[in-house]
Amino acid sequence: MAVNFKYQIKEITPTEGLIKVETKRLQTGIALPFNVYVKDNGVVKKVFNRGNILNRIFLEILEEKGFDYVYLDKTEIKSLEYYLSKKPVKPKVQDIKVAFSNYSFFKEKHYQIEKKLLVPGTEINFPIYNLKNLEFTKIINASDKNPVVITEDIFSVEGELVIEEKDIPLYEEYIKGLQDKLANVDISEEDKKIIANIIFKENSKVVMKELLKDPRSGKKIKEVQNLVDDIIKKVIEEPDSIYGLLTLKGYDYYTYTHSINVGVLSIGLGIHIKLEKEKIQKLGIGAMLHDIGKTKIPHEILNKQGKLTDTEYKIIQQHVISGYEIIKENKEVPKESYPAILQHHEKLSGRGYPYGLKEEEIELFGRITAIADCYDALTTRRPYKAPLTPFFALSILTREKKDYDKSLLIEFIKMLGNIK
Ligand SMILES: [Fe+2]
Ligand SMILES: [Fe+2]
Repeated sequence: MAVNFKYQIKEITPTEGLIKVETKRLQTGIALPFNVYVKDNGVVKKVFNRGNILNRIFLEILEEKGFDYVYLDKTEIKSLEYYLSKKPVKPKVQDIKVAFSNYSFFKEKHYQIEKKLLVPGTEINFPIYNLKNLEFTKIINASDKNPVVITEDIFSVEGELVIEEKDIPLYEEYIKGLQDKLANVDISEEDKKIIANIIFKENSKVVMKELLKDPRSGKKIKEVQNLVDDIIKKVIEEPDSIYGLLTLKGYDYYTYTHSINVGVLSIGLGIHIKLEKEKIQKLGIGAMLHDIGKTKIPHEILNKQGKLTDTEYKIIQQHVISGYEIIKENKEVPKESYPAILQHHEKLSGRGYPYGLKEEEIELFGRITAIADCYDALTTRRPYKAPLTPFFALSILTREKKDYDKSLLIEFIKMLGNIK
């Protein structure tokens, strides 16, 4: 079977034709059964993802921005009628809790892979599982002895694809093989670039995951530093690559994907505001390591669904100081990078932690990482929460302008706006 990259790159685009609905008819407290768009100066922008649960604040923001109407894809007419006629039934909390605790156990033992890199015609030698509705199902039973050729059936798999954690090195090898094939396939240069970016991102995830396993390793920090240099080079050469480098479609939050996203966004902002290269390097490494202290937090608390108790919240907050303690032992990390770790949860209003610093007390790297961190948290998907759209995440950040540096936030919005 010939290797078919082409299929992998194609994105599903929304069908044309929109239904107009008064914004005030949107309901709070229940999950949206469709994607919601607005028309912003004639441009259609997605504001809510299917599955987002609206609250009063969300609707107020739309009102403040003057969006009296929202739009849906015309194919959603049936869901709209149902949504407006009665409140969809929420699944029983108890059922979700049981499913979630099973899922959390398996989550730590699996690793999400990029579906786009499973190219029809290529061979794999590790099993692949489908992750959907909190359940893992083996869909490809491959091994060294029984390698399996990927077929186009892989496109019809709904949900995400994961592998066992122990098979990560085999996945890395598979990616390397793909890289070699990429040079000799007949696809456009642009498509090759997209695939190359995905490969780069997959490799970055592994580097970051390895560091978090062994956060005191100087060798692994060096690898992250090399990663920062590669990202800087990529983003300077081609600002559009930022979106390609972010992992926004994951099934869940992982500290390693979050760390890379915050690193990429901070580096992007550093380049956008024209910091010197040496400063961007220091910002990048600080941003990549900003949550390194989370390695000290038990998985049950980090992955808890629902509200945290006061004690759990205090434990989470400790990640800032424990991160600093890990980093200051490591001479590879420049001191100028520390504010990204120590101050990424501080707020200009003084409402942040751990020190409740205010205004000028918060340094530039702390301010930048805080914006990137919050943006990524809002746009990250969790199994029980659809991600906010970039448009809406930025609206929320702007609303909290007393907490974030206003001029940096404007540049951040411009930066993301500049990217197609
Ligand atoms: Fe954090
Ligand atoms: Fe973070």
